[in-house]
Parts: sequence; structure tokens; C-alpha cells
Amino acid sequence: MSYETLLVETNGRVGVVTLHRPKALNALNSQLIEELNRALDALEADPGIGCIVLAGSERAFAAGADVKEMQFLTFPATYRDDFITSWERLSRCRKPVIAAVAGYALGGGCEMAMMCDIILAADTARFGQPEIQLGIMPGAGGSQRLTRAVGKAKAMEMCLTGRTMDAAEAERAGLVARVVPAADLMAEAMKTADRIADMPLAAAMMVKESVNRAFETTLAEGIRFERRLFQALFATADQKEGMGAFVEKRQPGFARE
Ligand code: CAA
Repeated sequence: MSYETLLVETNGRVGVVTLHRPKALNALNSQLIEELNRALDALEADPGIGCIVLAGSERAFAAGADVKEMQFLTFPATYRDDFITSWERLSRCRKPVIAAVAGYALGGGCEMAMMCDIILAADTARFGQPEIQLGIMPGAGGSQRLTRAVGKAKAMEMCLTGRTMDAAEAERAGLVARVVPAADLMAEAMKTADRIADMPLAAAMMVKESVNRAFETTLAEGIRFERRLFQALFATADQKEGMGAFVEKRQPGFARE
């Protein structure tokens, strides 16, 4: 499969997608979104892949939706075509996705990172929703996911003023799982991704589904949902192997069914 705005490779059981529009700081245009969706379809369909890493460049994870593409859009066209719908593919990915963020993650770039399951940040990372400075507002979930991640006070301030957060603040606020030196970002992302990809696939996918359900439902319903998934995992060979290996004091050899 050929891509012009992405680099896609597989490394063992990990699919690595690197956004690659260097001249535009990885601004997210429609071609990139179409290619990203195609890459995600292929990696999800590949039973050998257990985790996906989404990365940008050293300078920018992504500096937002492509302003040059949006500049002359009108309300009727934006409403009718609802181009942001096509961005949602990433949030529907069922396999775990790690965002490896260095440099700018602004606007749609920050929103895309937040659609991933774990954000690992380089110490150079900057997160923000500066859309208001363009006369618009976050359009790919930023006002919702940022608020859930960092709370109303910071989300409101960032969306209303366009102020960006550095990596340390983002970690304190709970937006990112971990901050690492920029030079180590991809190695750390791969280490985490390898570890996840080595887990039983059904369990990893169900963990993702269950944690995400916490944002969509009540506590009682969420706990009921978790209980069903927990029970279902007893139907897998990997549960027999995992518990058998523990009891027999050996390393498990998962089938990752
Ligand atoms: N869209 C299109 N092109 C972009 C871009 C974007 N979002 N961000 C950067 N670029 C382009 C610049 O136009 C420039 O191209 P040229 O060399 O052809 O002029 C190139 O990338 C390099 O950018 P700068 O010269 O501006 O680099 P800088 O280091 O001076 O500044 C920056 C970096 C602060 C990130 C600045 O580029 C910037 O503010 N970018 C826009 C950020 C933004 O507003 N993002 C939100 C977009 S709207 C959105 O995302 C909507 C949504 O919610 C879905």
C-alpha cells in the first residue's frame, strides 16, 4: 500500500504510523486523514498486530487541521460534508494505540493524540487548542476529551485563550501518561507498545473497550460492562495459559487469539 503523507511500517507485532508532511508541520489535510484511515484499517485487519504507535516528527506531532485547506470553507459545505467525521476512525480503532508526541500537538493534532489510548510525550511536546485564534473552536473532540482529561479549569482556559501546555504541565494535569527525553521517545513508545502487543490480544482489546466505556456511561453500568468482559475472558485459551503458567512458575506462551 502506498502513502504520500505517512510512513507505515511493522516492527514485530507493532504497527508504526508516522505522520509525514514535514513542510506543513504535519498539518492534517484530507489526504492525510484518508491515508491514516487506510493504514488503520490494514493494521486492524492484520492478526499479527497487537498495538499501534502513532508518531509525528521531532518538531511536530501535528500542528492541527490544515488551515490552508479550510480557509475558504463555508458553513453549508462544512455542515453538509462534515469532513471531521472521517477523523473519527482513529477513535474507533479497537486495538490499543499509543501517541508518541514530540513538538507541537495543536488543535486537531492535540485532538488526534487524545483519540489514542496512551500519550507518551517528549519533553519538547506542547499541547493546545488554539482554534479560537482562527475564529473557530476545537472540532474533533477537543472541548470534550481535553475537559475529561484535565478538568474544566484548564480545558476552559486553554480553549478560550489558546494557551499551550508544555509536557511537564500536561503530565501533572493527567493528559499524558509519561514524559521522556525527546531522544528516547520512540524507543520508549516501542518498548510500551511491544509490551502491550505481547499481551493476550482479546484481553488488551477488552481492557481498552472497558476503560473507554468509563467515559460513556454510569458507574453501575460501567461495572456491569466490565464484569461481562471479565467473565468472557475465561473462555479464552490465553486465560488457561496465563493462569497455568503462573501456577507452574513458568513464562506463559500466549496464543494471542
Ligand atoms: N495548517 C496548515 N499549514 C500549517 C499549519 C496548519 N495547521 N501549521 C503550520 N503550517 C505550515 C505553515 O503555514 C508553514 O508553511 P509555509 O512554510 O508554507 O509558510 C509551515 O507549516 C511551518 O510553520 P511556521 O512557519 O508557522 O512555523 P513556526 O515554527 O513559526 O510556528 C506553529 C509553528 C506555532 C505551530 C505555527 O505554525 C502555528 O501556529 N500553526 C497553526 C496552529 C493551529 O492554529 N492549529 C489549529 C488548526 S485548526 C484545527 O485544528 C481545527 C480542528 O480542531 C479540527
